[in-house]
Amino acid sequence: MSTTLLAIETSCDETAAAVVVDGKEIKSNIIYSQIELHKLYGGVVPEIASRKHVEKINQVIRAAIDEAEVTWEDIDGIAVTYGPGLVGPLLVGVSAAKTLAFAKGKPIIGVHHIEGHIAANYIENDELKPPFMCMVASGGHSHLVYVKDYGEFEIVGRTRDDAAGEAFDKVARAIGLGYPGGPKIDNLAKEGDAKAIYFPRAFMEDAPYDFSFSGLKSAVLNYLNSCEMKGIEINEADVAASFQQAVIDVLTDNSVRAAKDYGCAKLALAGGVASNSSLRQSLIDRCKAEGIEFYYPSSVYCTDNAAMIGVAGYYEFIKGAKHDLNLNAVPNLKIGER
Ligand code: KG4
Ligand code: ZN
Repeated sequence: MSTTLLAIETSCDETAAAVVVDGKEIKSNIIYSQIELHKLYGGVVPEIASRKHVEKINQVIRAAIDEAEVTWEDIDGIAVTYGPGLVGPLLVGVSAAKTLAFAKGKPIIGVHHIEGHIAANYIENDELKPPFMCMVASGGHSHLVYVKDYGEFEIVGRTRDDAAGEAFDKVARAIGLGYPGGPKIDNLAKEGDAKAIYFPRAFMEDAPYDFSFSGLKSAVLNYLNSCEMKGIEINEADVAASFQQAVIDVLTDNSVRAAKDYGCAKLALAGGVASNSSLRQSLIDRCKAEGIEFYYPSSVYCTDNAAMIGVAGYYEFIKGAKHDLNLNAVPNLKIGER
């Protein structure tokens, strides 16, 4: 007997729905990105995001069901992101899921957004099973997570200030690349020299797997200001490459060290920043040298999507972990909490 889940994700600025069979087979993965709408403001405006989710959610769910060529009879449950994220956007997804669960008589499985990002790694990597170390780097989060088992997590390290993706977005804005900055810096960095400017790498003595990116961000802003004051021409590609290298060095060092210290032979990467080509290459090289198996999802499963929520939801569903119609959005939901 197979398990088919309808999955819904609306925690930030993507309205997404997917149909996933047995936590592996992605029957459909519909993503309506609101990026164009938020570009004007240089970042996500929560109220605008909520309104757009309301407008798009039914259409996106319909498209996911149609493309998967399933009927409601085929669907065993509804998985939905209920935190962490922006409360208004989360509420739209949770309300849609509860309405459908009630109307169609289906169970509801609330999913933690970061657990979804981690689960994206299972889609294309058959051999990846817990335990493993996972570096989650997105716009809102930078966590090193020890995945003990399906649905069992220990946070090993976290950012003290900005998330990695947030640093990419802020630096991109400062050098005039616009929002979202990650993919733009990724591309521009290819034309620059990563050794041109030295930016600081923060390592915490008291918490060896923690991160801090705000000092790096300030160092880039100071560099740009001082060039401007001295009338020195700025090479944006060199700034992008040098900044990106500083982020990559810290993410690579901390995650490989954590994997080794925890005796993990496997390391996975997740979250929007996981689609960064140089970060992937750095981890591929380093893991090869250290004898660690390295995994990462395709780009479409790195940035926010509902397929990953359907995968994480599946592992909760088969354990019998379901929610009821009292499920609410929890903007600051902790990982591993239900
Ligand atoms: O996981 P995600 O879609 O949303 C959150 O849960 O936050 O991550 C979005 C973040 C943004 O900060 C974006 O700039 C970053 O991921 N990002 C990248 C790349 N693609 C997206 N950062 C670096 N390189 C990329 N290629
Ligand atoms: Zn995300």
